[in-house]
Amino acid sequence: MENLLELKNIKLIYHSPKSETLAIDDLSFSIKAGDFVSIVGPSGCGKTTILSLVASLMKPTSGEIIYGAKDKSIAPGYMFQRDNLFEWLNIWKNVSLGLSFKHRKTKENVAYAKNLVEKYGLKDFMKHYPSELSGGMRQRVALIRTLSLRPELLLLDEPFSALDYQTRLAVQDDVFNIIKSEKKTAILVTHDISEAIAMSNKVIVLSSRPAKVKKIFDIDFDPSLTPFERRKQDNFQPLYDLIWGELQCKDIP
Ligand SMILES: Nc1ncnc2c1ncn2[C@@H]1O[C@H](COP(=O)(O)OP(=O)(O)OP(=O)(O)O)[C@@H](O)[C@H]1O
Ligand SMILES: [Mg+2]
Repeated sequence: MENLLELKNIKLIYHSPKSETLAIDDLSFSIKAGDFVSIVGPSGCGKTTILSLVASLMKPTSGEIIYGAKDKSIAPGYMFQRDNLFEWLNIWKNVSLGLSFKHRKTKENVAYAKNLVEKYGLKDFMKHYPSELSGGMRQRVALIRTLSLRPELLLLDEPFSALDYQTRLAVQDDVFNIIKSEKKTAILVTHDISEAIAMSNKVIVLSSRPAKVKKIFDIDFDPSLTPFERRKQDNFQPLYDLIWGELQCKDIP
């Protein structure tokens, strides 16, 4: 299968008047359509920087990012740790605001967004305000707002880390199911090794800054299993131990 996205020998230096920070050095990996890829790595190693580069929010200092087979750019959808919902707007306005911002509020797109809201159980909450929803439901609204722009690729930057443990498990299943049934490709940045294994088919382990790929693990569960069910599989803990070991192992300079 062809790559949806390929990063080739990416280097990124942040410049400020006083200093230069080498955030990423010689980073390469590729992603295929339908992949759910997790990126794990030490705090501050450059994970958010990678998502910003993929989203074309900035350009690499050197190296190449190739989108799709024909190098046509894809507009990824972002989902953050905080849901960034506007408290003074109701749920429907929060969802449809994304379309207005991007000047894409066509009849067809509004119908598509409405359909997502109904399909994923938010119909009765359209006129509610974010403060009336649980943390998990708020994340679902944030995901639907992102999906309503029909991105091929979703970039998820620690979207569950603000949730308590029980809610996090439920929302992981929820987000996983929505992403799979909408047939999207996703890159998830997380500090949580279990979350990475439970949700993805590939886990990329990064070195401490500057970020380089240390190792890529292929995760091969039965596709019909939910993240929660994957956690109960016999090969879950051995995978956890392998990835944990890789993260602890000191980088060779
Ligand atoms: N706008 C910026 N200007 C200068 N340096 C930056 C900027 N953004 C990030 N950095 C630096 O680049 C490095 C990587 O930052 P980044 O936010 O990508 O890390 P991260 O892996 O997402 O961290 P965390 O796990 O804490 O979310 C850090 O040393 C950070 O201080
Ligand atoms: Mg980050």
